[in-house]
Amino acid sequence: MPDAKQAVGARYAALIREIAAHDRAYYVLAAPTIGDRDYDRLFAELAELERAHPELARPDSPTRRVGGELAAGFARVRHLRRMYSLDNSYSEDDVREFMARAREALGGAKVAWVVEPKLDGASMELVYQGGSLALALTRGDGVEGEDVTTNIRTIRSLPLGVPCGGEVIARGEVFIDSADLEAVNEVREAAGDPPFANPRNAAAGSLRLLDPKEAARRPLRIFLYELVAAPDLPETHLGCLARLEALGLPVHGMQRACGTDDDVIAALGAFAAARKALPFDIDGAVVKVDLLAAREKLGSTARFPRWAAAYKFETEKAETRLLDIAVQVGRTGALTPVAVLEPVALAGTVVSRATLHNEDEIRTKDIRVGDTVIVEKAGEIIPRVVGVARASDARRGPPFSMPAACPACGAPPSRGEGEARWRCPNRLACPGQLKASLLHFASRKAMDIEHLGPSLVDQLVDHGLVRDVAGLYRVGEVELEELERMGQKSARNAIEAIQASRTRPLHRLITGLGIPLVGEVAAVQLAARYGSLSRFAAAEPEIERAELSAVFGIGEKIAAAVADALSDDRFLGVIRELLDLGIDPAAEAAAEGPIAGASFCITGTLSAPRHVVQERIRAAGGELHTAVKRGTRYLVAGADVGKAKLEKARALGTAVIDEAALERLLAGGEL
Ligand code: IVH
Repeated sequence: MPDAKQAVGARYAALIREIAAHDRAYYVLAAPTIGDRDYDRLFAELAELERAHPELARPDSPTRRVGGELAAGFARVRHLRRMYSLDNSYSEDDVREFMARAREALGGAKVAWVVEPKLDGASMELVYQGGSLALALTRGDGVEGEDVTTNIRTIRSLPLGVPCGGEVIARGEVFIDSADLEAVNEVREAAGDPPFANPRNAAAGSLRLLDPKEAARRPLRIFLYELVAAPDLPETHLGCLARLEALGLPVHGMQRACGTDDDVIAALGAFAAARKALPFDIDGAVVKVDLLAAREKLGSTARFPRWAAAYKFETEKAETRLLDIAVQVGRTGALTPVAVLEPVALAGTVVSRATLHNEDEIRTKDIRVGDTVIVEKAGEIIPRVVGVARASDARRGPPFSMPAACPACGAPPSRGEGEARWRCPNRLACPGQLKASLLHFASRKAMDIEHLGPSLVDQLVDHGLVRDVAGLYRVGEVELEELERMGQKSARNAIEAIQASRTRPLHRLITGLGIPLVGEVAAVQLAARYGSLSRFAAAEPEIERAELSAVFGIGEKIAAAVADALSDDRFLGVIRELLDLGIDPAAEAAAEGPIAGASFCITGTLSAPRHVVQERIRAAGGELHTAVKRGTRYLVAGADVGKAKLEKARALGTAVIDEAALERLLAGGEL
């Protein structure tokens, strides 16, 4: 039956082509060409063909984005051509000198320049062979990199195949946006891992994850900015960028061609000014010679090419005095040193506390109380102490060491083998851990209790008014009024806010209970499984240990943490107290309707008031996002929409639709 076999093979190839085209339309162009149901149907047909004819399976099949295997490590592979880094310039003069040097080396003729954004992530080389992604290599030492292909394949905006049979080698940057970093760090902190200090570390760390399933969960993005080899390689860099785009590879699309040095300087200024409005983070701009033959002539020094230079934007830094090194107690007992600073203005906020990482780093940098230190905003989010600007000679404190007693309860901290962190072991009675747990319970992603901030929590615990999260619901107005800085009005506000949280949906309460490893996503799954707090409390730990991961797809470590919590008398005691207080929230009913489960963000002016449109989306089972974020399915764009929003949607794979398309969806139709 060679004919039937051929037909199956042809159908298989056609499906891969078709799905890749739809993926590109969705993830790269933000202009979906197919409805979800039809897409799923194609995908299911492909998977079924692969099951029935395993011999057909191709490496660029979209079913194979996430490889199942845990990697034992990363093989070191030689780069075909040395992978250089860029020389950094920090001033206009540096850049002008660089251009003058290059011009001189090229015989003084006019040089065509290209200026493009500089992304702050990890550089990556991709090799496509026979049309399929064959290799993804980190830079490593420039000569040899690490093979991280399995993790790179999980980036949905990166095609696994290109329409070109010859060898294509492209280079680019893998990165994580600072907006997405917050979510990544939340998950890490819930797991007791130290947060990433900046998006670059987060990107590099994610590439080296041994479990590709874990890597697939990281919001990794990639832009390619150099085409190193391809059949009929264009003669200019601009031509190469156009070819990358034609191959369907993700490019930033923001290059500017510049004919004079002044044009280049103006372009640098334009990127610096546009920085905040761009849909991705940049830490500078790169100036490149456009003509590839000219690049060839210029060559490289030992470390840098002579045809490109990076212009780094200033990271805002400030100097201030280190008043104290406080030790913060986390809700699981982790002790973290925090710098207490003389308040100083930095990048739009006043900073009085900053991260100091860990004991070892403080000692290595010899940071001591009394010193004038340099603070910067890493990735423009969390301020951190970079180092000492001037050591104070007269009043310099002793070298830092972790205190021998937990600052909140006095118990001697311990440090597990191989762990970087000290912990307070006093889980049951440490007021520091209790305060951190209450703040977590009240936080926006959990029970969202307004007016319950650090100073009120401190007082509630210090006065013995609250001993666990359930105790919050017992506090009376009169007791509150007696606390410092608490008038009648603020007392009433706080009580009202606490009471209003009684009816929050179950997943928020589960998030708030602070089971190790259980963040928002796992909490939503758990809420769906149990349906109510009472059923959750009544679950049999040993059955859950097995079933949560096997049947409900919750990660094994998380399942074990849930089972442990369900066998912990103190944890169950708190839940029982909540139930006694009449707090037994149910899971939110799964929405039904024509757009059930789809998420929307609205922007621009619509023909009806925004809240009316929002209500209609909600009533049809849709979910609303206040801003476009990863996972936002549609951006409904009315009139006068800012370009930045559209770019952001494009970059995140959110489909941009107009009101007419929204109407079609609400009516149960497709785009
Ligand atoms: S070109 C031979 N273009 O910045 C140099 N690099 O600080 C090839 N980077 O190692 C690199 N954006 O990882 C180039 N538009 C861009 C870039 C870029 C970010 C990274 C790259 C490089 C590092 C140097």
